[in-house]
Amino acid sequence: FARHSLSVAIGSLTTAALALGAMNAQAAQTINLGHTLSDSSHYSVGADAFKETLERLSDGEFEVVEHPSGALGGERAMIEGLQIGTVDVVITSTGPLGNFVPQTYVLDLPFLFKDYDQARCVLDGEIGQDLLDKMGEHNLVGLAWSENGFRHMTNSKRPVTSPEDAEGLKIRTMENKVHMAAFEQMGVHPTPMAFPEVFTALQQGTVDGQENPITVIVASKFWEVQDNLSLTGHVYSPAIVLGSPVLMDGLSEEEQGWFEQAAQASAQATREEVSRLERDGVELLRENGMTVETDIDKAPFQEAVKPAYQIYTDQYGSEMLDRIRASD
Ligand code: PAF
Repeated sequence: FARHSLSVAIGSLTTAALALGAMNAQAAQTINLGHTLSDSSHYSVGADAFKETLERLSDGEFEVVEHPSGALGGERAMIEGLQIGTVDVVITSTGPLGNFVPQTYVLDLPFLFKDYDQARCVLDGEIGQDLLDKMGEHNLVGLAWSENGFRHMTNSKRPVTSPEDAEGLKIRTMENKVHMAAFEQMGVHPTPMAFPEVFTALQQGTVDGQENPITVIVASKFWEVQDNLSLTGHVYSPAIVLGSPVLMDGLSEEEQGWFEQAAQASAQATREEVSRLERDGVELLRENGMTVETDIDKAPFQEAVKPAYQIYTDQYGSEMLDRIRASD
């Protein structure tokens, strides 16, 4: 009898434990977070910080599942996914964002920010907040400005230290018309392409080169397909943590606040990783065989891309641009 009671008790306990487990499993709402870079990238550092913060603040109410390496598509496709609710959170550059929120094109103007401090300060201030608020008008939720970094050119043909050297090169650009206009002015043939296709395009010679921050060149091991790196720093590339309105609109204010805090923690961790790679990344690229041109006179590049400013202001006016310039 005693043995029978014991096994009944164990049975009940097991059932209770299973029921509790099932309840917990039900309680945790899965949040799918996507980005295009590898799981060793600065975006992954940011994704980990997002996950850790949201799960801690919500005490397990949300469980974040990370999808790196473009598993949910390129950045443009993921932004569309946010709008229709097939993705919950995305870390993306502003590259394709202007197609959805044209006010952000201003951030992609070449040589607009002089250094990291200025860019971070603008994005963390009133201008950045105004732009985050604009996301709401375009069926997106702007959670925090994060970072990709200053972009540099790589190619497989020759060292580039002047716009003349770059002339005629076929360079993959982001799907961003401000960038494309700037490269056209430089005499380069811009080839817009979603990032998940870039490595193969470089490998097969469909394009001669690409341009991206040190962070991305390291994370994507571009030394395997590109010999030359020129530290042109031609444009600052912000990143942004975006949420889906399909998810966010259904949350309480407190829950929305957790997402914002998680996005801020993500941005902070990402920026720290960008700064680390700015210090150590170039050496790593050299060790892996890239020839690095560091002595770049930026003035001729700046001169060459000037018409892109006119093209931008003709279409979008100069208010945002003036505000950013005044912040210097
Ligand atoms: O080149 C791009 O498309 C972007 O810089 C990247 C690599 C996807 C990071 O946001």
